[in-house]
Amino acid sequence: MDSFLIEGGVPLHGEVQISGSKNAVLPILAATLLTAETCVIRRVPDLSDVDFMVKILRSLGAEVTAAEGMLTIRCGAIRGFGDYDLIRKMRGSICILGPLLARLGQATVSLPGGCVIGTRPIDLHLKGLEALGAKITVDGGYLRCDTPKLQGNLVFLGGRAGPTVLGTANILMAATLAEGVTVIESAACEPEVVDLANFLISMGAKIQGVGSPTITVTGVRELHGAEHEVIPDRIEAGTFACAAAATCGEVTLRGARLDHLGAVLEKLREAGVGLDRTQGALTIRGHRGLRPVDVTTMPYSGFPTDMQAQLMALLCLAPGTSILTERIFESRFMHAAELMRLGADISIEGPSAIVKGGRPLTGAPVMASDLRASAALVIAGLCARNTTQVHRIYHLDRGYERMEAKLSKLGARISRVPGE
Ligand code: EPU
Repeated sequence: MDSFLIEGGVPLHGEVQISGSKNAVLPILAATLLTAETCVIRRVPDLSDVDFMVKILRSLGAEVTAAEGMLTIRCGAIRGFGDYDLIRKMRGSICILGPLLARLGQATVSLPGGCVIGTRPIDLHLKGLEALGAKITVDGGYLRCDTPKLQGNLVFLGGRAGPTVLGTANILMAATLAEGVTVIESAACEPEVVDLANFLISMGAKIQGVGSPTITVTGVRELHGAEHEVIPDRIEAGTFACAAAATCGEVTLRGARLDHLGAVLEKLREAGVGLDRTQGALTIRGHRGLRPVDVTTMPYSGFPTDMQAQLMALLCLAPGTSILTERIFESRFMHAAELMRLGADISIEGPSAIVKGGRPLTGAPVMASDLRASAALVIAGLCARNTTQVHRIYHLDRGYERMEAKLSKLGARISRVPGE
């Protein structure tokens, strides 16, 4: 398995182009299953999770051609039986369920996997599909869903930790071809759900209320092919912002949607990071004299759980006590123990991490446990003294396009060490 070798202590300088959003593109690729016509998706990030989704689509019978940043997909004759091992490996694969069921009236898939950040149930997805008339059984690790025809209904998607992002995507896609009207209550408001809905609307779906907790879908007989450009990745943008701030550098983010970054920018500002907006771009100016902050992860438009680890790495440098409370995924603090190997002072108390910041970090070998944890370790390595080796960076390759190339261009001393 590959690792990153990072010589810390170099302030990042320059411009970085933000790629298409991983969490938007995965359900959008699944949505192409809803039509037999050709769809063209642009600003597709080059990520292993995208490769996985393409493999899954091909295994279902889709014809997919790839050009730089663009996928052309035709799901002409498809089957509803997903490859067990492919689907099991990636959480995002669960969102093929809604479209397959809507198009074919049946779908059989293995239970999905994903990052180790807590138990990741799919009860809300299944409850939603059942409300639309699906019969669901589990047998031999496979989930089998059947319905003669999906029927619109009232679907409540609120769970213990709030709405579900992929659950909303799944029900939204299923409802586009259901008979009658579906009202999704407690729907996720994330920009990635809005992007999916915009793609579905361009395919001919009738959807109202996206971006709010109540989405109304009026089913149509069929959807047609469409073209779509995926939104920029707000988490990648936030990650580079934290890296710039942590290294006391000056980095301009190109192509980021600042309207998707409200809660993240607010916390960076509170922590004393300089932020300048000019002509649609954002420049981050890091400097010594960071301040501690308290933050609680929440559904959008609150502070995203996908930025908690990266902010923690930054706050390790802010003298004083910061408290990060995780309300979305119960076990999402695996990075804390690894940050401590670099000299950070962090203790976990229930759902909160208490960071006593301001101690200098020193390089060490560390192990990435999930995608955002890996990003946090890279940020810490970039500002630690000496060398940090981040092992198992296949997690990073799942969700960050050419991260080491982008960081190198900003002046970072980072290289990939191929694994044996
Ligand atoms: N939940 C349930 N039942 C369900 C589904 C979810 O109880 O059926 C709970 C989860 O356990 C969690 C909460 O609801 O406590 C929210 O989970 P959600 O369903 O919203 O997460 P997800 O849709 O599986 C997506 C992103 C995650 C991101 C979360 C939250 C993709 C592929 N994944 O996951 O992204 O953290 O939304 O915003 O879109 C990442 O990119 O690193 C990542 C993990």
